Amino acid sequence: MEIIIQPNAAAAARLAARLLAGVIRKNPDAVLGLATGGTTLPLYGELAAMKLDWRKITTFNLDEYVGIPPQHPQSYHSFMRENLFRHINIAAKKTNIPDGLAGDIPAWCERYEKKIRAAGGIDVQLLGIGADGHIGFNEQTSSLASRTRIKTLTPQTRKDNARFFGSEDQVPHHVITMGIGTILDARHCVLLAFGKNKARAIAEAVEGPVTSMNPASVLQLHPKVTVFLDEAAAAKLKLKDYYRWVFDNKPDWQKI
Ligand code: F6R
Repeated sequence: MEIIIQPNAAAAARLAARLLAGVIRKNPDAVLGLATGGTTLPLYGELAAMKLDWRKITTFNLDEYVGIPPQHPQSYHSFMRENLFRHINIAAKKTNIPDGLAGDIPAWCERYEKKIRAAGGIDVQLLGIGADGHIGFNEQTSSLASRTRIKTLTPQTRKDNARFFGSEDQVPHHVITMGIGTILDARHCVLLAFGKNKARAIAEAVEGPVTSMNPASVLQLHPKVTVFLDEAAAAKLKLKDYYRWVFDNKPDWQKI
């Protein structure tokens, strides 16, 4: 796992955008796994400003709320449209986001998994992290082998996301989310975390035991993970000086 600590979120997002831009330029047919949430905003802002060619890129989003239509201002369909898709030249038919209104959810989830496989699998999966360590909406004690499915949000996650909805009672209780097994199938996972309320989850995920009590800790089992942090999110890491030293002494061919 590579840990990259930057002075602030803007600098970390800039570097993460450079990594993704490199992937898109090198492989114009790349399959990207996308996340939503406040953490991704500076990253999508950077990517949108880069004027990359997205025409052949395929995307699969991690998750969507159940029971709200794509046009709902707080749906992840709206989030992606507003914050990334309408600013780039991606083909709408190549963007995939779970359907929060699916009738037969298990059948829909199976089709999503098949579609990811048919696209050749995900080259780079973007991830944020919840204050409890969730990735996608795989909350604590989610099966580390789980696939795309319906999940119930914890009261804490609903509270955290109430800021987008105006009030907590408007936050849906259920989501469709890629599973942890689905995420681990990606060839490269890129996790971003900013702010002090993520510091504990990051320290546990990176330096703690692999446990479903911190779902992000499973990334320790993945062969290629890059973590972009600001100082506040890195605050509780025991080895942060080592991670800085590694980054500052990277051989040229490894530089982002
Ligand atoms: C969103 C997602 C979630 C968020 C996490 C952090 O697609 O999968 O895991 O990444 O809840 O959210 P923010 O960035 O709003 O703190």
